[in-house]
Amino acid sequence: MARMRLLIVVALVAVLVVPLVALAQDGEGEPQTYTSPDSFLTLSFPAEWVAQENEFLYGAVLANSQEVFDTMEAATEEEMVAVPSGGVIVDITLASVDTFQSFGMEVEAGMSVEEVLDTFLTFISTPPEDMMGGAEGEDMGEGEMAATEEAGMDMGEGEMAATEEAGMDMGMEAPVVGEIQTVEFEDGRVAAWAPVEYPNASSDAYLVFEVGDGIYSVVNVYAAPGELTQDLIDTTIQVAQSIQFTGTADDLALPEPEVEESEVDPTTLDGDALVNERCTVCHTRERIDAQDKDEAGWTATVDRMISYGADLDSAERQAVIDYLVATH
Ligand code: HEC
Repeated sequence: MARMRLLIVVALVAVLVVPLVALAQDGEGEPQTYTSPDSFLTLSFPAEWVAQENEFLYGAVLANSQEVFDTMEAATEEEMVAVPSGGVIVDITLASVDTFQSFGMEVEAGMSVEEVLDTFLTFISTPPEDMMGGAEGEDMGEGEMAATEEAGMDMGEGEMAATEEAGMDMGMEAPVVGEIQTVEFEDGRVAAWAPVEYPNASSDAYLVFEVGDGIYSVVNVYAAPGELTQDLIDTTIQVAQSIQFTGTADDLALPEPEVEESEVDPTTLDGDALVNERCTVCHTRERIDAQDKDEAGWTATVDRMISYGADLDSAERQAVIDYLVATH
């Protein structure tokens, strides 16, 4: 969710965040207001900061200067995107239970915010072992297996997936998760938050609270390593408290990814072969075979993979979905 800072998201935000509007600075120190294009999401943020829509997941991304966005955007896919010194980013993502589950997180309806955060943190700090690295630049097809190590339960040691320069940013070392704490908002709502260190990349905190019925907001603040101060956490809490969402869980759905139209009849295509060829670029086939989903589930997953970069035209997409629904 906010760049949920799911492992991938570090790179994706950099690439996919799209400038929304050049927000005027009022110079008066008055907070600015961000409104999403569908106008369901509003929040206020510090006067001198800038805001962008989060194109990848429902939400917004804030930074303490345009240069910070520019630095992150200039980073190529192969680079680990480290936050420049002095830079701060606040990533806001709205997620329903379905959103969490679509990523494989075992969040369930009725969980407390602490439980949701705990589930989320466990997920981001124990990435699947079968993620591949070594994919270079455009040519992800040649990706070599990453030398992965079990992240295990001991986050302190958790050096996972020693993937060098993975195209999807799998090269990160496992984050080190701190203790979950709670903070009460002015309106009485309780948010759970925890500090998280991404070795050599950033010092973070994640905050989770409910913005609506069954809709959570995951707010991720991150600064250069060692630069996350209590002040920044307080600012993040201020921003978080201001978040309002008037839509429903359905409004959080990601836009359909763009796929090239094809006239080919999907039933003439070999879905199994397509999965082997196009779906094993970033992770192993086992990761797919381990799953059992219905049509809606596979459609959502395949579309998410396309938005990450899986190369399928409309007929191939349908053939892969049909094959997976029939066999998995
Ligand atoms: C560009 C890289 C990339 C490609 C190509 C890719 N995936 Fe993924 N896949 C990921 C990442 C990153 C994750 C973990 C994050 C997530 O689940 O969104 C993932 C997770 C998964 C999962 C586990 C999560 C879930 O929803 O069950 C499945 C299943 C999966 N991929 C299937 C596929 C299929 C099928 C294809 C081919 C259509 C594919 N992947 C192609 C990057 C990729």
